[in-house]
Amino acid sequence: MQLPGGASPNQGFQAAILERGAIVGGIGFHRTDWEQRATTIGYWIAEDFQGRGTVTRAAARLIDHALDVWELERIEIRAAPDNRRSRAIPERLGFHQERVIPNAERLPYRIAVHVVYVLLSDQWQRR
Ligand SMILES: CC(C)(COP(=O)(O)OP(=O)(O)OC[C@H]1O[C@@H](n2cnc3c(N)ncnc32)[C@H](O)[C@@H]1OP(=O)(O)O)[C@@H](O)C(=O)NCCC(=O)NCCS
Repeated sequence: MQLPGGASPNQGFQAAILERGAIVGGIGFHRTDWEQRATTIGYWIAEDFQGRGTVTRAAARLIDHALDVWELERIEIRAAPDNRRSRAIPERLGFHQERVIPNAERLPYRIAVHVVYVLLSDQWQRR
């Protein structure tokens, strides 16, 4: 089944990041491939709440879930080359840079480049 916007069902979940009951960010899995035991994590947090390690900690909990509960074997995080804060998250969590995709995403006014970070299940250092 195809959902609006090209999304498919059963690809993971999206979670809200709350501060005193208000949504200040989001993090979740998309493009989960159950056959290949692989998924991708995406995230955002409002500017006033950046710089506290919140998203890094939330990503670590999602990784625990993907590896321990779903028994996936490969987790990807993609970021634009100039998105320093986004790239710092997989780097902090022990992902390795696997490749750069020059024509990764068609946006309204340009084609986006993606840096692809990968974590394999046996590389995860539990904290
Ligand atoms: C990408 C994004 C989520 C990163 O936010 P962030 O606040 O830098 O990430 P974290 O919550 O993990 O915080 C890390 C920061 O907190 C600091 N920090 C403080 N305590 C920390 C802790 N216990 N653990 C880790 N980092 C900690 C880190 O040093 C880092 O700050 P620095 O960059 O000034 O060194 C945010 O910039 C964003 O939402 N951007 C817009 C949307 C976006 O680009 N999404 C990604 C698309 S690929």
